[in-house]
Amino acid sequence: MGQDGFRVAEIDTTRPHPARIYDYLLGGKDNYEVDQRAGDELAAAAPEVRIGLQANRAFLQRAVRYVVGSGVRQILDIGTGLPTSPNVHEIAQEAAPDVRVAYVDNDPIVAAHANALLSSSGATSVVLGDLRDPQAVVDHPDVRRTIDFDEPVALLLVAVLHFLTDAEQPEQAVAALRDALPAGSFLVLSHATGDFADRSAAQAVYNNATATLNLRSRTEVERFFAGFELVEPGLAQVPFWRPDTTPPPRSREIGFYGGVARKTS
Ligand SMILES: C[S@@+](CC[C@H](N)C(=O)[O-])C[C@H]1O[C@@H](n2cnc3c(N)ncnc32)[C@H](O)[C@@H]1O
Repeated sequence: MGQDGFRVAEIDTTRPHPARIYDYLLGGKDNYEVDQRAGDELAAAAPEVRIGLQANRAFLQRAVRYVVGSGVRQILDIGTGLPTSPNVHEIAQEAAPDVRVAYVDNDPIVAAHANALLSSSGATSVVLGDLRDPQAVVDHPDVRRTIDFDEPVALLLVAVLHFLTDAEQPEQAVAALRDALPAGSFLVLSHATGDFADRSAAQAVYNNATATLNLRSRTEVERFFAGFELVEPGLAQVPFWRPDTTPPPRSREIGFYGGVARKTS
């Protein structure tokens, strides 16, 4: 049994899962043959995908340090993914040991690896929850135990919104979460795009997966920040969001936008 009472045997190894494809492409071991095949197809369709995912992970680290440096002590990370060192709570707690993190993902395999996400101080929780039901996430008792919605929260939606179709109303999901957050909170968001190359073949790899890939344009991604104010430099390809080293070669090809924004009222 894992967290929330699901059985590990329920993990589906017949279809590729976004969390496991991502893990494979980042060099992790928590994936199956079906995910490896999808990952290889993705890399063939979009040769920059591996550096893109690494750049997304590096963006996540810089953005977490930024929000913690801005004084936030609570993080709600929806679309956590499989544990990848360093995990969000490790990055955050290195900067400020009192940061609390609620991890939320709709894939049971993430909860099955919860041990790596639980901090020894009890300052983290791992919840099986779905971005398409934001109210259930906000109301979940384990989220409430970790996050005080009267204090600023950094909401992380990093490389997850592109798994929602337009019909699943991703803008409304973000708006519902925004409305649950007090002023002084932050949104950290990254999203896949086809703005820099035709990536329809990469998108097609997910047709047989447990979630589809929905590439969005700059304008579409910017809409997710409604009700927030983007901090400098605004929405950028992830390697160019406040880089702390020289962006790697071919960074201009990376199909990931990233941005951090503050809720001011
Ligand atoms: C590509 S991984 C991103 C992991 C991490 N946020 C990062 O950027 O390194 C996307 C994660 O989102 C999760 N996910 C996809 N759709 C979701 C949904 N509707 N609700 C919650 N999690 C979802 C997947 O299971 C996967 O673990």
